[in-house]
Amino acid sequence: MNIELIRNDFPILKTISAGRPLVYFDNGATTQKPLPVLEAIYEYNSRQNGNPHRGSHVLAIAASEAYDGSKEVVRKFINARSTREVIYTRNTTESLNLVARSYGETHLKKGDRIVITVAEHHANLVTWQRVAQKTGAVLDYIYIDKETGKFKEEDFAKIDAKTKIVAFAQVSNVLGLVFDPKPLINLAHQHGAVVVLDGAQSVPHQQVDVQELDCDFFVFSGHKMCASGGIGVLYGKEALLEDMEPFNLGGDMIDRVEEQVTTFAELPTKFEAGTPNVEGAVSLAAAIKYLNNIGFEEIEAHEKKLVTLAIEGMKKIPYVRIIGSDNPAEKTGLVAFTVDDVHPHDVSELLSAAGICIRTGHHCAQPLHIYLGVNATCRASFYFYNTEEEVAYFLDKLSKVRAAMGYKD
Ligand SMILES: Cc1ncc(COP(=O)(O)O)c(C=O)c1O
Repeated sequence: MNIELIRNDFPILKTISAGRPLVYFDNGATTQKPLPVLEAIYEYNSRQNGNPHRGSHVLAIAASEAYDGSKEVVRKFINARSTREVIYTRNTTESLNLVARSYGETHLKKGDRIVITVAEHHANLVTWQRVAQKTGAVLDYIYIDKETGKFKEEDFAKIDAKTKIVAFAQVSNVLGLVFDPKPLINLAHQHGAVVVLDGAQSVPHQQVDVQELDCDFFVFSGHKMCASGGIGVLYGKEALLEDMEPFNLGGDMIDRVEEQVTTFAELPTKFEAGTPNVEGAVSLAAAIKYLNNIGFEEIEAHEKKLVTLAIEGMKKIPYVRIIGSDNPAEKTGLVAFTVDDVHPHDVSELLSAAGICIRTGHHCAQPLHIYLGVNATCRASFYFYNTEEEVAYFLDKLSKVRAAMGYKD
């Protein structure tokens, strides 16, 4: 992995901020786009733009081929059985809303149980609250051990015969814990529950095989893996998708429409109403090719190096507290933290003044922050284009944050 060559592919990383190239450590929120992705978007709009699946002229056909072709790239990427199982949405959030509405609200009933974790992003939490409120199902939580940052295994026993949905992130966007989801998936299946796996923070960084995981639904966003915004994926097992009501209604998703009744299109079109985001789909296929060319083993190894350096350095700064596990072996490429007596927004502003972008706030995980007893945290999240020098620069600036706020120690 030649980091210099890779960085040359990302025009935005050449932005000068505070007199030096910008340090972008907010990859958990969204990632930057390499030239091959930008070029694919440009090419599509310059030569192929049309409305897919509607029309027989050359551009309608070119757009259809671009759209359908990208689906096959995504199918192969996550190892779905067929493109019938791959639905394009706007993002992870919309994918989860689709499952909650078209599966959860129609298949659950009073007394059923939904089990999620306290570390879920609101997209995988508020959605299930709504399902519980509408159906009378009970929403229950798996908590984390505050010392180790790991899930409390005794809470796994909440998954029982009444449990119909088990939904959780493969990687939490705050804890960044390396976590094998298989035992939880197997346990859910032993009780006949459907498993919804949120891959927003995993797919960009590790190879995912949905058949091997055996999850029932899997969701992710293109913009967190070098593609453009507005394109997301819902993978679902075909039998489940067949048994679900359409999500949005309108053009494309129909088979035959009469004045009073409509029959719906086959999968996956049944769930893709309206003109789709073809350039987003094209960008996603280009991003997947780009990531595959680098290789996920390389990406993971590089990010492990960065997070190890970051955590080891942060542990040497006495007033920095790492959220969750502080063992780099247990962490993916993100680390959330607080600085004693300094509000996370002040930390972020001071770092931003030094040309470093991190995320602060509750990271759309308020229940986790309430559970941990913190209002807000800072988060540095790395990607394959970040460097060890950037981490060292970040640690240096972080070590000066308290002094900048007027503290003497
Ligand atoms: C774990 C997790 N799930 C879901 C989401 C929602 O993703 P999006 O905003 O792209 O829909 C995010 C975004 O940060 C996330 O980190």
